[in-house]
Amino acid sequence: MLLQPPPRDVREFEAVLPEWNPDVDDMLVCRQVREETHDVKTFVFSARYPCQFRFRPGQFLTFDLPLEGGMIQRCYTISASAARPFRATITVKRVPRGPGSNWLHDNLKPGSEIRAVGPMGEFVPDLFSEKKWLLLSAGSGITPLMSMARTAADLGDDRDIIFLHAARSPRDIIFRQELDMMARQQEGMRLALICESLSEEKSWPGLTGRLSNVMLQLIAPDLDEREVYCCGPEPFMEAVRVMLVELGYDMERYHQESFDFAVMEEEEPFEMPVVDDGVEHATFRVELARSGQVLECGPDMTILNAARAAGLRLPSSCARGLCGSCKSHMVSGSVDMKHGGGIRQREIDQGQILLCCSRPTSDVVIDR
Ligand SMILES: Cc1cc2nc3c(=O)[nH]c(=O)nc-3n(C[C@H](O)[C@H](O)[C@H](O)COP(=O)(O)OP(=O)(O)OC[C@H]3O[C@@H](n4cnc5c(N)ncnc54)[C@H](O)[C@@H]3O)c2cc1C
Ligand code: FES
Repeated sequence: MLLQPPPRDVREFEAVLPEWNPDVDDMLVCRQVREETHDVKTFVFSARYPCQFRFRPGQFLTFDLPLEGGMIQRCYTISASAARPFRATITVKRVPRGPGSNWLHDNLKPGSEIRAVGPMGEFVPDLFSEKKWLLLSAGSGITPLMSMARTAADLGDDRDIIFLHAARSPRDIIFRQELDMMARQQEGMRLALICESLSEEKSWPGLTGRLSNVMLQLIAPDLDEREVYCCGPEPFMEAVRVMLVELGYDMERYHQESFDFAVMEEEEPFEMPVVDDGVEHATFRVELARSGQVLECGPDMTILNAARAAGLRLPSSCARGLCGSCKSHMVSGSVDMKHGGGIRQREIDQGQILLCCSRPTSDVVIDR
């Protein structure tokens, strides 16, 4: 819902240029669906009325997906250029038996409306100081890097970009034609495509096999001068990290995004920031009203951690206040919540909390 009424004419629209406000706006309208490959679709969204999205390339949105069995949340990176603020696109790979991606592929049509929170995320380049990038991706991990490349192209700057993408076979390459065209039209951009196998493709101009040290050195001989951004399945990113270390690359300049929050949590466990706010975090009682279960939540423990310690499984995904999956209504009590953008102010005002980043400051009752 937008705060402002829709502009009445073009002049008013140009004067106002309304902006998407993540705290109050959450309804996106699907305007177009594009088939990118046999199992990948792009969904183009805008707000109900012309409205600018402010996002940085690499950021994502969290969608509420109304499945038959109940609402689930899934995160999708904005694949569009941040320099085209009136629309946001996501590009989704259909994961076999995956409830979220299959629902999107099968149900979202032009005209459908869907709720989303964001944009959020820290996998964003510095568009001002970084002049040379190596963008490395595999599979659907191409989306944040495509947003970076598209944004750089739209800004018309002289950035030097190597776009290296790995796919199973040529038919799995997402955005292939657009990448070809970008590389032809932009002097500073070079494209390197690597396929594990060629399947039906008779003439393949790219590389075949898996990315190796030798390939990386040939593609980016000036690796040391580049900022590296990487996204793809964990085994791919792990292989890339090993190669970069072996090649003596300064890993301070390596940035990666995982599409799997469990991996993120393993590598970098989230710890609630401890603020010396004079609030005593004693042990409190957390009652789950629907199931009637009661938990003991120790000092500096989040409610989600207390539930896990008691062997309970509550809905959650990122465990760091980003995705909104653990959003729950607090019937009574108070908490200290340090979220990362996964909940709107209006929801907090209505008594919602994120269990993964909330510590009780009194006994609480949760509607779960
Ligand atoms: C920050 C962030 C950004 C993301 N951006 C994108 C994006 O731009 N495009 C996109 O397609 N997905 C993206 N994802 C993944 C997405 O959120 C879902 O996890 C994915 O669509 C699978 O959801 P599902 O409900 O269909 O299957 P789930 O039940 O969640 O997953 C089924 C199984 O498939 C695995 N899996 C999950 N995602 C993939 C994948 N992409 N390819 C292969 N296997 C996978 C899971 O590990 C799990 O084992 C992103 C995730 C995060 C955390
Ligand atoms: S699990 Fe993602 S916000 Fe709590």
